[in-house]
Amino acid sequence: MNVDADRRSPPCALVIFGASGDLTARKLLPALERLSGYGALPPEVALVGVARTPMTDAEFGDLCRRNVPGPVEPRWKELAATARYVHGGYDDPATYQRLAEVMAECDHRHGTAGNRVYYLATPPRLFGPIAISLGKAGLSTPAGDGFVRAVVEKPFGWDEASARGLYAELSSAFSEEQIFRIDHYLAKETVQNLLALRFANSIFEPIWNRTWVDNVQITVAETLGVGERGGFYETTGAMRDIVQNHVLQVLSLFLMEPPTSFHAEAIRDEKVKLLRAIQPLDDEAEIAANAVRGQYTRGGTRDDLMRGYRDEPGVDPLSATETFVAMRLEVQNWRWTGVPVYVRTGKRLPARVTEVAMEFRRPPQLPLFPGTAERLDPDALIVRVQPDEGLSLRFGAKVPGHAFRVQKASMDFSYESFEEQSPDAYERVILDALIGDPTLFIRADEVGRSWRIVDPVMQCWAADDRPIPLYQAATWGPPEATAMIARDGRSWRHSS
Ligand SMILES: NC(=O)c1ccc[n+]([C@@H]2O[C@H](COP(=O)([O-])OP(=O)(O)OC[C@H]3O[C@@H](n4cnc5c(N)ncnc54)[C@H](OP(=O)(O)O)[C@@H]3O)[C@@H](O)[C@H]2O)c1
Repeated sequence: MNVDADRRSPPCALVIFGASGDLTARKLLPALERLSGYGALPPEVALVGVARTPMTDAEFGDLCRRNVPGPVEPRWKELAATARYVHGGYDDPATYQRLAEVMAECDHRHGTAGNRVYYLATPPRLFGPIAISLGKAGLSTPAGDGFVRAVVEKPFGWDEASARGLYAELSSAFSEEQIFRIDHYLAKETVQNLLALRFANSIFEPIWNRTWVDNVQITVAETLGVGERGGFYETTGAMRDIVQNHVLQVLSLFLMEPPTSFHAEAIRDEKVKLLRAIQPLDDEAEIAANAVRGQYTRGGTRDDLMRGYRDEPGVDPLSATETFVAMRLEVQNWRWTGVPVYVRTGKRLPARVTEVAMEFRRPPQLPLFPGTAERLDPDALIVRVQPDEGLSLRFGAKVPGHAFRVQKASMDFSYESFEEQSPDAYERVILDALIGDPTLFIRADEVGRSWRIVDPVMQCWAADDRPIPLYQAATWGPPEATAMIARDGRSWRHSS
């Protein structure tokens, strides 16, 4: 894959905090290697790692090479060979003094021109202290026409109040334009294709509203359990891990009004307007009727028996952490009032699927097809984010034969039909941060509004001393989730 000339990084020192960690090894370094291969990282880009683990520059260079298997791009070899490493505590002023010296050497040797991108790949509680330390050391202010940016991984806070606290810490050193909050879901090709689908075609937009759409369903289903990440998951749960960020981001792109341009601010303005139109579930009765949590128990088959969440390593045997969430939301605006938006996510579900489905209203004259059409699933447009990225349009078609029987058929588009490969999400976010394109990053007001939607539900569940509903591993969540949608006379897709 070649990159367009304007998709090439300007001169810059890319500084990774938490350079000894899992995200760096598994995602960031391989993404940088691929970007090197596309010619996106010219010689004026230098790599600097920062962490507490003692390492020399050469050892960090080795770590870079070790984490990229197979034949390796010459530019990546060079980037790894010249990589620098700063060893020190994240709140120790000496670390930042040393970092300043190393970055100045990069300016001198590689021509990085005073430009910096700080990638905070550390546990979230260090984001604020690192930003404050960078600010105190005078390393957050751009020199001349240059740029300094901070890339922040999710989670962005723990609730609305802590998100505000994190915002205050980050903005003590960086302006909002300098902060790039990652949701790697937004960097997935299919999610971006939502913009192309809706706004590069004229056939979809006329039916993208309450007149034609019966309901919207967003599913983020995983077959895996928490594995070795039980300790982390205990402090997070499905609502904070998936709904507050990925689900609400995809939902807002899918349902927002057309932006006036594809400029980052125009798109982010529309997303936040959509999030503001979602009425938070505020009182207990509303939450009980429209939000369901669940936790997986032992299940599966005799040959593939999966342990329950409470038996996973690092998990409290009495844990009430939710591994499943289903919610019914309403977007109260001119386009969507009255169209329920069902969202569902969980671990240890029967299939790994992430999709957004729009189900259309049934045709007005079902009696034309007695005995079949009313039993058919509604027509649907399905955007599959993973696996098999693509689109499907489901509709009724006549079964060949003498009888007039209607059956569901499907027109499918797969991304595999393009010769070009989709870039990995981390390639996209790293390059966007280096270039300075904030379109696929989340603005502070979006973060705040998303917490406003999930916070009341989390608070209500935290105060609820009834046992959390359970579901067997490899099933579609607790019966309460099925009952919630059935009350509306509908059913979840993929429920059988
Ligand atoms: N891993 C993933 O696949 C993934 C996916 C999405 C988002 N994220 C986000 O990316 C960030 C980094 O994730 P990660 O999995 O790479 O984290 P990690 O491996 O646990 O931590 C990264 C580095 O931070 C330092 N660190 C860890 N715990 C620390 C502590 N208690 N005090 C001070 N330093 C500590 C360690 O480096 P030193 O000890 O050498 O300083 C560690 O190598 C997190 O915010 C996470 O939520 C990760």
